[in-house]
Amino acid sequence: MTFSKGLAGVVADTTQISQVQGEDGRLIYRGISIDELANQSSFEEVSYFLLKGKLPNPSELSSWTDKLKKYRKLDSDVEKALLSLPTDMHPMVALQALLAVLIHKEKPAQLKDKEAHIETSAFLISQLATLIAQVSRRRRGLPLLPVKDSLSHTSHFLYLLQGKDPDTKIAHFFDVAMILHMDHDFNASTFAARVIASTEAHLTSAISGAIGALSGPLHGGANERVLDMADAIKSPDKASAWILETLQKKGKVMGFGHRVYRTLDPRAKILKEILDTLAKDSKTQDVTFDILKKVHDTMIEELSKKEKDYIWPNVDFWSGSFYRNIGIEKIDFTPLFALARVVGWSSHVIEMWEDNRIYRPAAEYVGPDHVPYAKVK
Ligand code: ACO
Repeated sequence: MTFSKGLAGVVADTTQISQVQGEDGRLIYRGISIDELANQSSFEEVSYFLLKGKLPNPSELSSWTDKLKKYRKLDSDVEKALLSLPTDMHPMVALQALLAVLIHKEKPAQLKDKEAHIETSAFLISQLATLIAQVSRRRRGLPLLPVKDSLSHTSHFLYLLQGKDPDTKIAHFFDVAMILHMDHDFNASTFAARVIASTEAHLTSAISGAIGALSGPLHGGANERVLDMADAIKSPDKASAWILETLQKKGKVMGFGHRVYRTLDPRAKILKEILDTLAKDSKTQDVTFDILKKVHDTMIEELSKKEKDYIWPNVDFWSGSFYRNIGIEKIDFTPLFALARVVGWSSHVIEMWEDNRIYRPAAEYVGPDHVPYAKVK
């Protein structure tokens, strides 16, 4: 048996869904480069592609779009559960709890009934979008907003969150950001979903567990922490000193580093281009973006001095700055990751169930043996 801390380098299964080509800074979804999909596609098209394994024709795309719309509305018991949660709960925790409420709505299906699981996935993709927006509204003291039939999946999400139809350009950039976050081979939350589903538990349970895994600061929670860092730095001229001090104390700078990428994360590159476009078009200064640009430059310079030039910004480094720019609060950033990644999680579970085997790794026991039992007296 081989031992690898954090399962680094361990191949746990095969997949056709996505591949991170870490040395080249490429990410592909079913063979197509993420750059091409981000440039030319939509949330609806890519979600269909990842789940079904083929690009949709126009009529398939139209019925998939209608299906996602059909599942937008929450049942009254789910809405009641949402309204009973504490308003100061972190939204990722609230989502995990609410997903548990959705479990009994999942229709029983044979493990290999791919179409039934794709139907459940469509339900979860839409319900999760509504839940994320409504949980956020409630935390901000706003009334829950009724869903409507118009708008694309991601534009409708922005409508629910912000109470108005989004600007076309912002809606497009947001759609791109969601495509970028949809899948990333065997990342921690996808692996968590696969472990849960490998026991043949509900797909909804696997998604709920994946949300828990995504919430941690070393995974999806990093985008929120990047903005905590920018807020602590306060102004661009203080960024370099802040970073030097952090590195000197052997601290980690959130939004940098990746287990697989050894060069720039292609998703970070596209998000930075979006931020550059927004900055060019805007008449006001985006302080967060300016601070992060300074952090970026200082990090690149310092890491190269330390011969750690394999550490680059990951997707989380720029995503929070983009979300803040379009008026979304920091605490809602990680839920946005889930809004997109639910597509990848579902696709992986469905793929795995085609040929399932329970995950059960081994442990190297390093504790004592033959310890005499001493009864409590
Ligand atoms: N800032 C400073 N130093 C870093 C950073 C960082 N962000 N990331 C890695 N390093 C250093 C480590 O301290 C370590 O140095 P050492 O060899 O002197 O001890 C070396 O680079 C190797 O790093 P590891 O932590 O071993 O890398 P690992 O593959 O285990 O972890 C991880 C990757 C968790 C992403 C790590 O880089 C990290 O904690 N980054 C910050 C959090 C973050 O941005 N997470 C989001 C990841 S992407 C995502 O989930 C979408």
